[in-house]
Amino acid sequence: MSMKQVTVAVEGHQYPIFIGSPLLTTASFKDFISSNQVLIISNPTVAAHYLAPLQSALDEFDCEVFLMDDGESYKSLTTFNLIMERLISLGMRRNATIVALGGGVVGDIAGFSAACYQRGVPFIQVPTTLLAMVDSSVGGKTAVNHPLAKNMIGAFYQPQAVIADLACLKTLPQREFNAGMAEVVKYGLIDDFSLFEKIEQNLPHLQPDNSALMAEIVERCCEIKAKVVALDEKETGVRAHLNLGHTFGHAIEKIGDYSRWLHGEAVAIGTLMAMALAEQNNLIDPEYYHRVKTVFACLGLPTSIPDSISSERLIEVMRHDKKNLSEHIRVVVPTGPGVVKVTDEFSVAELCAAIDSGRVTL
Ligand SMILES: NC(=O)c1ccc[n+]([C@@H]2O[C@H](COP(=O)([O-])OP(=O)(O)OC[C@H]3O[C@@H](n4cnc5c(N)ncnc54)[C@H](O)[C@@H]3O)[C@@H](O)[C@H]2O)c1
Repeated sequence: MSMKQVTVAVEGHQYPIFIGSPLLTTASFKDFISSNQVLIISNPTVAAHYLAPLQSALDEFDCEVFLMDDGESYKSLTTFNLIMERLISLGMRRNATIVALGGGVVGDIAGFSAACYQRGVPFIQVPTTLLAMVDSSVGGKTAVNHPLAKNMIGAFYQPQAVIADLACLKTLPQREFNAGMAEVVKYGLIDDFSLFEKIEQNLPHLQPDNSALMAEIVERCCEIKAKVVALDEKETGVRAHLNLGHTFGHAIEKIGDYSRWLHGEAVAIGTLMAMALAEQNNLIDPEYYHRVKTVFACLGLPTSIPDSISSERLIEVMRHDKKNLSEHIRVVVPTGPGVVKVTDEFSVAELCAAIDSGRVTL
């Protein structure tokens, strides 16, 4: 077994992220479980591959399972309520542990359930998608969706540990893997340009079964996220840098009814819009924009939205993003390789120009 470890430290709490393979069956879960009561939350797609090995790793505990339906639309208050019913009817106590086995959907709702049940029970993240390994399982943001808006009901609630078994990536659909790579690229653009260069140089080798390379990549992303979260757990400052491409991206996802584009795909398009904005306003070189566009294209990610979606319509949806604190639209833009800033200095006309320039095909 090879394993890397990254530590996340926030005020009053510190926890490890273990990255390696195989981990599901070998990680020492018991170090992070404080009573014999455990509820695993997963979905049938993930459970078909990984529930049995996880259950055998946890066989010394009294382990129950809640399987939610698979899909973003089930990250809902209805599913949350079913989880609460299960926890209560099982007589789960305050020191019971919830284990989230799955991607960001399972992780977000399991984490929110852990935050709420009896005002907070311990939980462990076992992320099984690339996006969950590098992003959603780390940093303590948990949420469910409301019919009127995504991720609107949630809590900052940190896990006891994150156990990322890279072997799980091998069963992930290629499109989901590619979408996770969009978030990986993001880390390179916001904090560590050498990570971006590593991706650029290793494009043919970035495969789900290349566990050695993926371990290095996932570790670096988790280090960056851990650093940012340690500085700003509640997103009053630098944590906003993680939203590069997300103001545009969330609007793209919404216009696509959360089904046309995966989150990472929308983030890739949104990142290019943010880069076009920076390039058109002389914050970065055109060459930087084109390098990133080429990398996204090589990773099988979309780089533009169809002409049928006007820039005005996208802007209108962006105005309603919960992260827009003011009248102006707040975006993260690159200011150089591996450096970004948060700004609301751009006019609607400048934002529209950036959105429209993204329509030019490679
Ligand atoms: N909390 C945060 O900080 C944060 C950050 C980013 C995204 N998110 C949230 O994460 C969610 C998206 O997460 P996601 O991209 O992981 O999607 P997801 O959880 O929907 O997983 C994608 C698909 O892959 C399947 N799957 C998962 N692991 C698999 C595996 N190993 N093998 C085969 N299939 C597998 C799932 O069942 C699902 O069908 C969104 O709800 C988003 O809001 C949260």
